[in-house]
Amino acid sequence: MERGNFGSKIGAVLASAGSAVGLGNIWRFPTECGSNGGAAFILIYLMCVFFLAMPVMVAEFVIGRSSHSNVVGSYRVLAPGKPWVVSGFMGVLAGFLVLSYYSVVAGWTLDYTCESLVGNLMSGSDFGQHFNDFVSSPWRPALFLTVFLLLTHYVVATGVEKGIERYSKIMMPLLLLIIFVLAAFSLTMPNAMEGLRFLLTPDFSKVTKDVVISAMGQAFFSLSVGMGTLATYASYFNKETRLFSSAVGVCTIDTLVAVSAGFIIFPAVFSVGVSADSGPGLVFITLPYVFQEAFGGVPVLEYIFSGLFYVLLLLAALTSSISMHEICTAYIHETFKLSRPKAATIVTALCLLMGIACSLSFGLWKEVTVMGKGFFDLFDFITAKFLMPLGGLLICTFVGWDMNKKLVAQELDSRFTPLLMVLFSWVAPIGIGIIFIYGLISG
Ligand code: PHE
Repeated sequence: MERGNFGSKIGAVLASAGSAVGLGNIWRFPTECGSNGGAAFILIYLMCVFFLAMPVMVAEFVIGRSSHSNVVGSYRVLAPGKPWVVSGFMGVLAGFLVLSYYSVVAGWTLDYTCESLVGNLMSGSDFGQHFNDFVSSPWRPALFLTVFLLLTHYVVATGVEKGIERYSKIMMPLLLLIIFVLAAFSLTMPNAMEGLRFLLTPDFSKVTKDVVISAMGQAFFSLSVGMGTLATYASYFNKETRLFSSAVGVCTIDTLVAVSAGFIIFPAVFSVGVSADSGPGLVFITLPYVFQEAFGGVPVLEYIFSGLFYVLLLLAALTSSISMHEICTAYIHETFKLSRPKAATIVTALCLLMGIACSLSFGLWKEVTVMGKGFFDLFDFITAKFLMPLGGLLICTFVGWDMNKKLVAQELDSRFTPLLMVLFSWVAPIGIGIIFIYGLISG
């Protein structure tokens, strides 16, 4: 079967960075930072990125590009008959689960984008009430979730080069531009330095083992590693794409965006003097207040800036959801020999059903729980605590210990190969293993 390919190196890096940069950077990173010791968290996070998540990313690139196959197929090509293929199946399952709950928040973002563009989020409303009414209503979030999934579907069904690469090349530069404009503006607001101080003053007394567990979880989620997303993308890389330097590029862009999101949110929040909420409340309740307070006298500015912010969030969510969809679509397309649009339709339909279940867990199905959790929290728990770290562990161990050494070196083709081999074989598996087990024990 003719396989898709990214037409250019820059397309490959932008698509991978698009997968990495998402709601995780703009919404989750600032709140994790705020509640886990500011700069102390950033420091631990950077160590997790460098020693644990980045090696998994390079290992995924090696697996994907050397096999030219989807996550499950790649183990069948590289290690036929061996049990590593289980890690591929875990990746497809994780792709389905993450896409299902991620699309719910992305759907909220789409609703807020539309509402801000028609001026509905302007001064005067009780934003807390507005948000709670919205997420607990059965229809509206489901409708926006559906529209969001259809947008994702469209890009994936259109193909690797004409869909994923083309739209990443448009959306990523736009996203970077918006983020820098918003950060520059936020940093010039009165009292902005208070917010920066909050973000950048390390509070080591807050650093406990839970913080280390959160930092690793955040690093894996934010860089999209551990479930084969980037292995799938790397299977479309051409031979000229340098795997290690591309991974360094993706990690740098992702970290810059996360830190810039902190530079947008905290100075603005401190400047207008509202308390920095955490979780969904931060972007859907606190920020509308911030926009209202900051631009109260000049509605046009309130309109422009809230619009820009939600468009930013939407673009980030879309380039990420595309990559999760692609893990599952590539698997179905290649394994069952269905056309790409047909495979994509199956994925979209299944995710829609599971996404609606997640969405309803905020309202109508609040009482429906499995292991004490609603669907949304359950899917988040299974993937973040279990599938992603375990997947990362297996991916590194496979490349470090079992995969043909010559092939790995040939794919890497870098003077850092010996260092990377130590990271794959020892540092990453041991580090991830210890944090993973602690995470399980502490619940
Ligand atoms: N990295 C994305 C984000 O930060 C989320 C994601 C996770 C995407 C796993 C793909 C796979 O939002």
